[in-house]
Amino acid sequence: MTGRTNLTIVLAAGEGTRMRSSLPKVLHEVAGRPLIAHVLSAAPAGAGTALAVVVGPDHGAVAETARKARSDAGIFVQQERLGTAHAVLAARAAIAAGHDDLLIAFGDTPLITAETFARLRAPLVEGAAVVVLGFRAADPTGYGRLVTEGDRLVAIREQADASEAEKAITLCNAGVMAFDGRAALGLIEAIDANNSKAEFYLTDAVAIARARGLKAVVIETDEDEVRGINTKAQLAEAEAVMQARLRRAALEAGVTMVAPETVYLAADTRFGLDVAIEPFVVFGPGVSVGDGAVIHAFSHLTGATVGPKASIGPYARLRPGTQLGEGVRIGNFVETKAAVIEAGAKANHLSYLGDSHVGANANIGAGTITCNYDGFDKHRTEIGAGAFVGTNSSLVAPVTIGAGAYIGSGSVITRDVPADALALERNAQAGRDGWAKRFREAKLALRKGRGKPE
Ligand code: UD1
Ligand code: MG
Repeated sequence: MTGRTNLTIVLAAGEGTRMRSSLPKVLHEVAGRPLIAHVLSAAPAGAGTALAVVVGPDHGAVAETARKARSDAGIFVQQERLGTAHAVLAARAAIAAGHDDLLIAFGDTPLITAETFARLRAPLVEGAAVVVLGFRAADPTGYGRLVTEGDRLVAIREQADASEAEKAITLCNAGVMAFDGRAALGLIEAIDANNSKAEFYLTDAVAIARARGLKAVVIETDEDEVRGINTKAQLAEAEAVMQARLRRAALEAGVTMVAPETVYLAADTRFGLDVAIEPFVVFGPGVSVGDGAVIHAFSHLTGATVGPKASIGPYARLRPGTQLGEGVRIGNFVETKAAVIEAGAKANHLSYLGDSHVGANANIGAGTITCNYDGFDKHRTEIGAGAFVGTNSSLVAPVTIGAGAYIGSGSVITRDVPADALALERNAQAGRDGWAKRFREAKLALRKGRGKPE
C-alpha cells in the first residue's frame, strides 16, 4: 500500500444488550485486551493513515479506551442510532479531509487482522470503488447476503429485506468495507432509509455504486476472522480462536510448551529465545519473558518483566510492577507486586514481596512477608544485595535491610538493619531437660488407672 493514504473508521456506537453487562460491549476483553483495541491495533497505522472511532453518547469510557489503544484516534459521536451509514457520516469531517482509501470496520469483531485490511485495500488500486469482506457462513441467518454476478458484487441484501432466493445465499457480509476515497462520501450520502427497518444501511452503497457504473467486488475470508461478538458465549468462542492464534505464534517464535492448549496468553505477551512454559500458566496483560526463562506449572503473571534465565513457579503469582533480573528464582506460593528483584536473588517458597526492592543475590527465606500496608498507605521495603532473610520473617515497611545483612528466622523487623549486621527479634528459648519423658509417663499412668487400653 505504499504511497496511498488511508482513513479507517471503526463503528462502536451500537449497544449489544445481550451481553447482560453494565460494561459497553466493545470494552469486553479477549486475550486481556478490549474488543475495540484489537480492531484498532489491526487497522493501518503510521505515516499517511488516520483513524476515526464512532461512539454513542455517554460512551466516554469507549473513547478513552480507543485513545489508549491508538493515540491518533479521532473520536466522533453518533447521537442517534439510525444505522451503519448514519454512523459513518458522524465522522464526515474525517472523510472530507480526503484520503486515497477509506476502510470501515466494526468495533465488535476482534479477530480481524492487519493482513485482511491490506487485502481489502488492494482492489482499490485496480479501480474498484467498493470492496466488501465476505465469508461463507455456516448459518447465514441475520447477515447481509452478498448478491454477485460473475466477479462483480451487485448488492448486499439485509436479512429483513431479503427474498427467499436471496436468503439461500451463504456468502455473507462480514461488515468490513473499503471505499475509494474520492467516491466514498458521494456514495454514502446517497443512502436512504427506505427499507423494512427504516435504517441507513451502509451496505446500500454497493447497489448505488453499481447504478453509477462503479465497480464493487468481494474479498473472502474465513468465518473465524469476522465473528462479531453479541453474547458472552460468542465472547468465549472468540477467546478460543484468539488463544489458538497466540499459542501458534508463540510456538513459531520458538517458545517450548508441552501442553499449549492449557497456557493462556495475552495479546501483548512477549517472549525471548528458548523460553519454556509448563502446563496451566496464565498470562495477563503486560508480561515479557526474557531469554531462557522457565515458567513452571500453575503460575499467574500480570504486568511483569521476567529476566533472562529466571525460574518462576510452580504456583507463583507475579503481579503488576514486578521486574525480575537475570537468573532470579521465584518459587512455589510466592507473590510479588511492584517488586524489583535484582539478578541472582531467590525467593523460593511461600513469600509476599510487595513494594520492594531486592538487591542482587539476596536470599529471601521461606515464609518471608513484606508488611507493606498499614490499612491506609503502602510502604516500601529495601533489601540490600547479598542479604540473607531467615525464614518466617516479617519485614514491617518502611524498612531497609542493608547489603549483606543477616535476619534471624522468625524475626519481626521494624527498624532498619545496617549492612553486614545481624538482626534477631525473638524471645529467648526456654527448655526443661527430661520434661517430655516425664509428661508422657504421667499421661500413660493416668490412662492405665482409668482402665483404658494402652
Ligand atoms: C451489519 C451489516 C450486515 C452484516 C453484519 C455483519 C449493515 C446494514 N448490515 O448488520 O450486512 O452481515 O453487520 O455482522 O451494515 N452501529 C453504529 N451505529 C448505528 C448502527 C450500527 O455505530 O446506528 C455499529 C454497531 O456498533 C456495530 C456495527 O455498526 O458495531 C454493526 O451494527 P449492527 O446493528 O450489529 O448491524 P447488523 O445488523 O449486525
Ligand atoms: Mg451485528
